[in-house]
Amino acid sequence: MNDTHAPDLVVVTGASSGIGEATVRHLRGLGTPVVAVARRRERLETLAGEVGCEVVAADLATAEGARALTDHVGARALAAVVANAGGARGVDPVEAAGGEEAEAVIGRWREMYDMNVVATLRTVTALLPALRAGGGDVVVVTSMAAREFYPGGAGYTAAKHAERAIPATLRMELLGEPIRIIEIAPGLVHTEEFSLRRLGDRARAEAVYAGVPGPLHAADVAEAIAWTLSRPAHVNIDLLEINPVAQAGATRVHRLTP
Ligand SMILES: NC(=O)c1ccc[n+]([C@@H]2O[C@H](COP(=O)([O-])OP(=O)(O)OC[C@H]3O[C@@H](n4cnc5c(N)ncnc54)[C@H](OP(=O)(O)O)[C@@H]3O)[C@@H](O)[C@H]2O)c1
Repeated sequence: MNDTHAPDLVVVTGASSGIGEATVRHLRGLGTPVVAVARRRERLETLAGEVGCEVVAADLATAEGARALTDHVGARALAAVVANAGGARGVDPVEAAGGEEAEAVIGRWREMYDMNVVATLRTVTALLPALRAGGGDVVVVTSMAAREFYPGGAGYTAAKHAERAIPATLRMELLGEPIRIIEIAPGLVHTEEFSLRRLGDRARAEAVYAGVPGPLHAADVAEAIAWTLSRPAHVNIDLLEINPVAQAGATRVHRLTP
């Protein structure tokens, strides 16, 4: 998505909240036509009413969901896909996968693999023909968790490390084609739902950000994504790591004591 690309249609996944929603808002603010994708249609429709995007309600971890997206895009060429859908479920220690809650824990690992890895894989591959037609860009939102590990985080870090393999490998496999492959790896982003959906209750979720002087906000990441897309056509931002000043690693977060 830059001066030399004729089409300007962008697909943003995980658009019903957080970073994806902020990315839709930012791109629409620039006048870019956007297809917003997530499972919850109602939230997408509300967003569409505010910013005027197209919507596709689909579970991208499934073949039907990916097909619904390609059916919607149809014969149009794409300027970019922002594969952002994903998230974390639980903070289970590795050993819990062998304990009394084993099946529930392993279920959460599978869910994280599906929503982060399978959904990104299906999204990007389903849209490759439309991206090829438009000389479009692939943006994958991974995480600091794609490079680090922390206690209670193995299910999520395993999924994000695996997700990172997609852009890293695709960049080699598509070498010679005018398709840029960009990975965005944020640290702590205070979004409305990420920690809530991970931990299941509001108080625990808010404790993740308690006392942190300036966690990232979804809009910070959205702006960074748009910046990578607006570089000249020959410039590929392979990896953009973006963290709050108050964070120097997954477990090294500065907090002001009350
Ligand atoms: N927040 C952070 O601290 C942080 C840090 C680094 C990286 N990240 C990554 O950034 C991305 C966005 O995070 P966020 O904080 O914005 O989280 P969020 O607010 O929970 O948003 C996640 C989005 O993904 C969608 N989604 C999940 N599974 C899906 C599926 N199978 N098919 C379609 N859509 C699906 C959700 O919508 P529906 O439920 O409506 O489908 C939602 O719109 C994720 O990949 C996350 O891992 C977040």
